[in-house]
Amino acid sequence: MCGIIGIVGMAPVTARLLATLKRLEYRGYDSAGIASITENGLERRRSVGKIANLEACLNDDPLVGFTGIGHTRWATHGEASERNAHPHISGKVAIVHNGIIENYAALKSELREAGFEFQTETDTEVVAVLIDSLLQSGLEAKEAVGAALKRFHGAYALGIMFESQPDVMYGARKGSPLVVGIGNGEMFLGSDALAIAPYTNKVIYLEEGDWCRLTRESYEVFDSEDKPVMRKVQTVETEEDSADKGNYPHYMLKEIYEQPRSIAKTLQAYTHPVHGTLSLPKDATLDFDFSTVSNVYMISCGTAHYATRVAEYWFEQIAGIPCKTDIASEFRYRQPALAKNSVALFVSQSGETADTLAALRYCKVQGIKTIAVVNVRTSSIAREADVVLPTLAGPEIGVASTKAFTAQLAVLLVTALHAGLSRGTLSEDEFETHSKSVAEIGSKVDESLSRDGVIRAVCELICDADDVFYLGRGVHYPLALEGALKLKEISYIHAEGFASGELKHGPIALITDKTPIVFVAPTDELYEKSISNLQEVAARKGPVLLISDRKGVEEAGGAPTTTLEMPDCDQLIAPFVYSVALQLIAYHTAVMRGTDVDQPRNLAKSVTVE
Ligand code: M6R
Repeated sequence: MCGIIGIVGMAPVTARLLATLKRLEYRGYDSAGIASITENGLERRRSVGKIANLEACLNDDPLVGFTGIGHTRWATHGEASERNAHPHISGKVAIVHNGIIENYAALKSELREAGFEFQTETDTEVVAVLIDSLLQSGLEAKEAVGAALKRFHGAYALGIMFESQPDVMYGARKGSPLVVGIGNGEMFLGSDALAIAPYTNKVIYLEEGDWCRLTRESYEVFDSEDKPVMRKVQTVETEEDSADKGNYPHYMLKEIYEQPRSIAKTLQAYTHPVHGTLSLPKDATLDFDFSTVSNVYMISCGTAHYATRVAEYWFEQIAGIPCKTDIASEFRYRQPALAKNSVALFVSQSGETADTLAALRYCKVQGIKTIAVVNVRTSSIAREADVVLPTLAGPEIGVASTKAFTAQLAVLLVTALHAGLSRGTLSEDEFETHSKSVAEIGSKVDESLSRDGVIRAVCELICDADDVFYLGRGVHYPLALEGALKLKEISYIHAEGFASGELKHGPIALITDKTPIVFVAPTDELYEKSISNLQEVAARKGPVLLISDRKGVEEAGGAPTTTLEMPDCDQLIAPFVYSVALQLIAYHTAVMRGTDVDQPRNLAKSVTVE
């Protein structure tokens, strides 16, 4: 969602603000802007659409200042227009914001009654106008920031500048993350550490309700009661997987191809360095024993949710633990009754998803043990959970999650195996056999990638469709849901996933010769049932794509289908192998349709508002 960069610099900042906004493009946005304090006072440039438009605008009309804020906006309140784009300026105050000011309407009418005017339809503008009103009432800039923050309900990460203080910047966070970067004679604000990574690796993660005052040489942090507080300065590791596309046309394709390595890297962290056996990482010491755990809850959103839906089968079948998965936005408001001695896993690539974070906080209040399965070690979810089980997928830039998904599957599978061993539902021998299969995931995924050409060819079947259905049974049912999500988010084709067994209970009414059906059906114990469903679809002239292994493709011989043969593998690791096919189908279909694969319309990479 909205990206923020702020620089109190010792050299002109526009070029760096712009370069950072380009790096933040992956978060998803529909307009962008920059403000700086120039010799003419506060000035800004804003534009709708790609950063290239803002760049063109700055080329025509440059901004020269040593302190500046930049923003990529993902519209919530008010259309994507130049008028609604950030930074917002009121009088001598400029601000950028990520989040939602929920009481903006009440504040707006209060300020209007006091004679202040508004130019936009955004919730954010009240922040600038309220601070401006407090300045005009005689408060100093710092006092005005502290006083204004107490009036806002909802979520915010803010960057604030005052024309009267050209070498000072304020930041504040509640609900949405904000990072302070400590440079050499310069200070930075960023919506995440990646934003400021080229400038410094020394960061402070502001805590809930914190706000800060930065100059080039100093920083002060205050808590929600305006008391000065010390926050830890952390050194952020530089990610070795660079955030560029290399020779790939899209980040998504690069990330799909990185999977053998990202899975291997993740599994390596879950392998005992001496004995070579699968185990949880040493620094993820659990202060509970899975043998005494009554229930496992897994809470997440989007693709991460589908990873937990696959893992639900593993926890129940391998470890015999009653398991429930939930969508975080539902969980957080449902007041779920949680069993004693249960543990809750929060799965998130970004570690910043607002609903997942809120669900984590709910569980903590209920006294439930919390485990974060996250890709960003320094994220809010990682910092607030009792235990972190990291995925080591490296930075994922494409909005459509791919390598993070398979890394999540890897961590959840190892955790389920660990739980099975602790509970005695898996013998040592069975554990070893499963471990051998896990060790093959990387090479099987690599083999799946080698079928890319064939996978691309089968996309002809679906690239002109208006609706596509995905069907699967067992662990392949959530995979079908994930395949459909991937297709809809980047190709804009309407796609739905169903459990194959549900077909006759409704979805079959939708089948025509214009609705391709993708069956994910390797030869497991449910294969024959899947093929019966496939026949039912074929009998209604639905064009079928069967994704199976060699035996499955051969046995389906008689059915009128297009087939896609994936590598033979142990059933336990089939979700990894079949994910690759589904990801590549979505990717190639989107490319054939000419969509913006890495930044699909309306989507944000990290959903930091509800
Ligand atoms: O960062 P998170 O894993 O918490 O994000 C959850 C979802 O927003 C995310 O998986 C989303 O569904 C992706 N666009 C799917 O490709």
